[in-house]
Amino acid sequence: MHPMLNIAVKAARRAGGIINRAALNLDLLHVSRKAHNDFVSEVDNTAEDAIINVILEAYPNHSILAEESGARGDPSKSEYQWIIDPLDGTTNFLHGFPQYAVSIALKHRGVLTQAVVYDPSGNELFTASRGRGAYLNDRRLRVSNRNQLSDCLIGTGFPFRKFSHMDAYIAMFKDIMPKVAGIRRPGSAALDLVYVAAGRYDGFWELGLSSWDVAAGCLLITEAGGLVGDLEGNDTYMQSGHIVAGNPKIFGQLLQVIAPHLTKELMA
Ligand code: IPD
Ligand code: CA
Ligand code: CA
Repeated sequence: MHPMLNIAVKAARRAGGIINRAALNLDLLHVSRKAHNDFVSEVDNTAEDAIINVILEAYPNHSILAEESGARGDPSKSEYQWIIDPLDGTTNFLHGFPQYAVSIALKHRGVLTQAVVYDPSGNELFTASRGRGAYLNDRRLRVSNRNQLSDCLIGTGFPFRKFSHMDAYIAMFKDIMPKVAGIRRPGSAALDLVYVAAGRYDGFWELGLSSWDVAAGCLLITEAGGLVGDLEGNDTYMQSGHIVAGNPKIFGQLLQVIAPHLTKELMA
């Protein structure tokens, strides 16, 4: 295993331990609201601190972008930037709904090179190193090979904080729903993406995600032979947060169904 991936795994498992312990006593948690429908618990913060400590202990000069504490270190001075979501799926976690994960990615000179998504309740560890494939625990991952949209299980995320793209999203949803075998919205974008890598979903789309939600999952998908893009299939998805992913046959078909629903606001 690449030494930097090894550190990412160590950090993700440490955070997973904190999350699992807290899940046993959800009633004791202090929860606050960052914004409408945007909750943060002490677990998000403690898990994030633990991840950052493990990383900086090994690589004190690397820079960091983490959901709760923001940017740290000067990205222009370090070629390495870690992108961290300590708990993706906080709403699920707070409800004891076991679908949440730790997401850690590393960029080297702007290119994603290492990725870990760890589901602590199911003990599923998803990892990828650029050029070396994607894994679930010790098993190599490959995207599915379904090629008919009508056979496909598609993952998505509903808008729930900012509703600015809600009408466009509903229009996409309405168009996709009758064309596919099923749509799922489990509530953790990081896990949704690695499920595409694992072939559990054939495709996925969501609007308005943040870079820490998607960075690790996207490397897993491409390393598992899948494709990721923005709503037009281009590679601005880390900036826009609008994302479409799938196996190579379904990716293009999803983009075609989405295309008529692109608005000026979505493309801005
Ligand atoms: C959220 C989850 C969710 C997605 C949201 C994300 P958080 O992350 O990934 O599935 O729909 O857009 O913000 O806030 O639980 O880390
Ligand atoms: Ca998240
Ligand atoms: Ca989070």
